[in-house]
Amino acid sequence: MKIPFVDLDAQYKQIKTEVLTVIEEVLDSKKFVMGDYEREFSKQFSELQGSTYSVGCSNGTSAITVALRTLGISTEDEVITPANSFFATPEAIYEVGAKPVFTDCDPKTYSMKVEDIEGLITPKTKAVIPVHLYGNPAEMIKIKAICEKHNLFLIEDCAQAHLAELNGQGVGTFGDFGTFSFYPGKNLGAYGDAGAVTTQDSNLLKTATMHINHGRTEKYEHEFCAGNFRMDGIQAAILSVKAKYINTWTNQRIAAAKKYDEILKNKGFKVLETTPNSKCVYHLYPIEVSNRDEVLAHLKNKNIGCGVHYPIPLHMQPALSELGYKKGDFPNCEHAADNMLSLPIFPEITDEQINKVCAEFLSIAKL
Ligand SMILES: Cc1ncc(COP(=O)(O)O)c(C=O)c1O
Repeated sequence: MKIPFVDLDAQYKQIKTEVLTVIEEVLDSKKFVMGDYEREFSKQFSELQGSTYSVGCSNGTSAITVALRTLGISTEDEVITPANSFFATPEAIYEVGAKPVFTDCDPKTYSMKVEDIEGLITPKTKAVIPVHLYGNPAEMIKIKAICEKHNLFLIEDCAQAHLAELNGQGVGTFGDFGTFSFYPGKNLGAYGDAGAVTTQDSNLLKTATMHINHGRTEKYEHEFCAGNFRMDGIQAAILSVKAKYINTWTNQRIAAAKKYDEILKNKGFKVLETTPNSKCVYHLYPIEVSNRDEVLAHLKNKNIGCGVHYPIPLHMQPALSELGYKKGDFPNCEHAADNMLSLPIFPEITDEQINKVCAEFLSIAKL
C-alpha cells in the first residue's frame, strides 16, 4: 500500500467537475486578475475565518510583505518571530529591510516561546510575528497583551492554520494582520500560488490592497510605489469551490490526528501538544523520535511519504548568517529540528492507512 504524504489527487477527484466548470467560467469571463472572483472568495474566506476583512494576494510570502509594508516597517526596524518556521517568515522581514529577531519555541506546542519576547524588545522593535505552526494556534492572548503593553504591531503568520481558533476566535483576527498561504499543499490550497491578508481595520485593508496592486488609487494613478502581488482569478475561483468543503476537510484532519494520537501517544511518543482552548487544524502531524534517519529510511522503503518540518532552524540558515546567531542559541528549536518528523496527514486519509503508518513507524521508531 502506497501512502503519500499529502494526497492532492484524492481531493481533486471529489471536486474535479466543479473545478473544471469554474475554470471555464473564468476563461469565458476574462476576469483573470483580482476582480469579481477574488472579491467573492475574499468574502467567503473572511466569513470562514471570522475576520471583518480579507483581500487576496499572490502567495503567503507576499502576504507577510504586504502586511509589513502597510504598517510602515522598514530599515532599522526589528521584528520578533520564532526560530522554527518556514523560511518565508524572516524572508519577508528581510524583504522590507527590517531585521528578524528570533525567539525559541515552546518544547510542547513548538509555538513561539512567549517568555522570550519581552527580553528581546529594544527601541527598534516594531512588530511581533507569531506563526501558527503545524496548524496549532500560538498563545495569542499573551502575545497580544505584550504587543499592547509595548505598542508593537502584531502580524499573525497563519499560512498553516486556516480555520484554526483560540478561545473560539479565528486566527488572523487577533492582530493588525493575519497572513495566509493557499499553496497547493496547504489545508486550503489553490492549484498554483495564492495568499491573503485579513484585518479588522478598513484603513489597513485599503492600504494593504494598494500595496498588493501598484499603490493604485485609480487605474493609472499611483499614490506610492508598491509592486504587483495580485491574486489570479482562476485561483480565486478554485478556492471558492474548495471553501465550501474546508470545514469538513478540517474536521477530517482533526479526526485523523486524534487517531494517530490514540495509537502513538499511548506508546509514549512525544506528539504535538495543542495550545489550551484551541482548535488545532493539523496542517502537519509532527512527532519526535531519537533515530530519525532510520525511521525516515524505513518509511520510505515501505512507500510511506514523510517530511521534516524543519531540518534547519531559521537562526542556522546560511542566508541569515549575518544575524550572528550560533548553534545552542535556541535549544528547543534545535532539538525539534534534529528529532522531529511529520507523518502523512490529509483529509481523505483512511483508518487503514493510519494503522499501516503507525505499524511501520512503531516497528522502527525509538523514543
Ligand atoms: C509558516 C509559513 N509562512 C509563510 C509561508 C509562505 O507561503 P507561500 O509559499 O504561499 O509563499 C509558508 C509556506 O510554506 C509557511 O509555511
